Amino acid sequence: MNWVNELAAIVAVESTGVARAGHASDVSGHEAVWPDAVALPVSAGEVAAVLSWANDRRIAVTPWGAGSSVEGNPIPVKGGICLSLERMNRVKEIRLGDRLAVVEAGTKYRELNRQLAGSGWQFAVEIGGDATIGGMIANNAAGPKAVKYGSTKAHVLGLEVALADGRLIRTGGRAWKQSCGYNLTQLFAGSEGTLGVITEAIVKLTPAPAVREVVAARFGSVRAAVDCLGELRRLDAGAIEFLDRSYMEFLGEVVADTLFCEFHTAGHGEAAERICRAGGAESVERAGEELWRARLRAYTASQEANPGARLLTTDTAVPLGAFGEMVEFLQQELATRRLTGYLLGHAGDGNLHVILPWRSAAEWAAVEAFHGAAVRKSMELGGTASGEHGVGMGKREFLAAEHGEGAVAVMRMMKQMLDPRGVLNPGKVLPSQNVTYANGE
Ligand code: LAC
Ligand code: ZN
Repeated sequence: MNWVNELAAIVAVESTGVARAGHASDVSGHEAVWPDAVALPVSAGEVAAVLSWANDRRIAVTPWGAGSSVEGNPIPVKGGICLSLERMNRVKEIRLGDRLAVVEAGTKYRELNRQLAGSGWQFAVEIGGDATIGGMIANNAAGPKAVKYGSTKAHVLGLEVALADGRLIRTGGRAWKQSCGYNLTQLFAGSEGTLGVITEAIVKLTPAPAVREVVAARFGSVRAAVDCLGELRRLDAGAIEFLDRSYMEFLGEVVADTLFCEFHTAGHGEAAERICRAGGAESVERAGEELWRARLRAYTASQEANPGARLLTTDTAVPLGAFGEMVEFLQQELATRRLTGYLLGHAGDGNLHVILPWRSAAEWAAVEAFHGAAVRKSMELGGTASGEHGVGMGKREFLAAEHGEGAVAVMRMMKQMLDPRGVLNPGKVLPSQNVTYANGE
């Protein structure tokens, strides 16, 4: 394609089959689509130059962090350019006195934490995927620790963003307290690369916990486990995870509905043990790192256990008090629909996943119908279709039902304002726009 040569004059480009195939899918079950070319900028200026050019030429641009999303968020569904931030991976500043770090968007969160090791400080969001900080901000990733620290959004003080037309802007700043103007930082966070491309972030640093007490409590029923949550949430909990009995069986662990928690204040592990015993737990024990690692690898393990299958993951989050009802509803739906699904979630904050393998069109139809039922139930309970994975490709159809036509119209206005030619991550978040891209020519 001729335009790829033009692009190569602006930025390093790879267009081999290997490079394109390596940027065609995330870890979700959504169909892979190859980009025509992978752009590998090394600076915000280069990102901006690519966008300015692609916007003029009307070439689709899909930003890429590490490809660890679970909802198709970085799949270049319209082909065109995969704009990979992987070469922009420098930790530019660590300022312990200011409790912040400045990182290029392609920095892996684990790399920042590696550099912080021993300092007593951390970037507090922990997730299963080996994600970049830019990608985590763009998708507003969360994970098990969100019960204490909140989602990634809560850890961003400022951003540098390349707009669709090639302008570079800064949002927020280095102050821990900001109340000056519209909150653009939080607009771009969670926008999944549809409004701009995050090139740099100023993120908060959080004290690393000095104490870590991990407790696994096994119950005879979901209800018994869920009834303990209210009391457990009053403790200094770094994570309160729920793993249902079928998932524990899958892990080769004791088969029971299990609460798996971490506490950061001395004695709170013991308090949790008391709460769970009084709540009828069949066994309560101090768990080790092993179960914790197994929990973080849940998604990867589900994929490994089902070679050749694709995965659909639900991501509903309901008001805290409705968590038990949601778990029971989903268990019942799995049973009546005769589906295999691994049920686990972030009980501390009401976020629940069912990971469902599927292999054929018929199985896809069945898991998709299950997903629809889960989302409808979540909304009925006052919840959301997505607690942490984002809208991506698989949840666009639920946007209006969740937010109302009026709110979606405002989202469309924002998209129109910031990306009038529809070049940024097309086919994500909002229901599709009717745009013809020059990269198809
Ligand atoms: C997890 C991912 C699927 O919680 O969000 O393991
Ligand atoms: Zn999760």
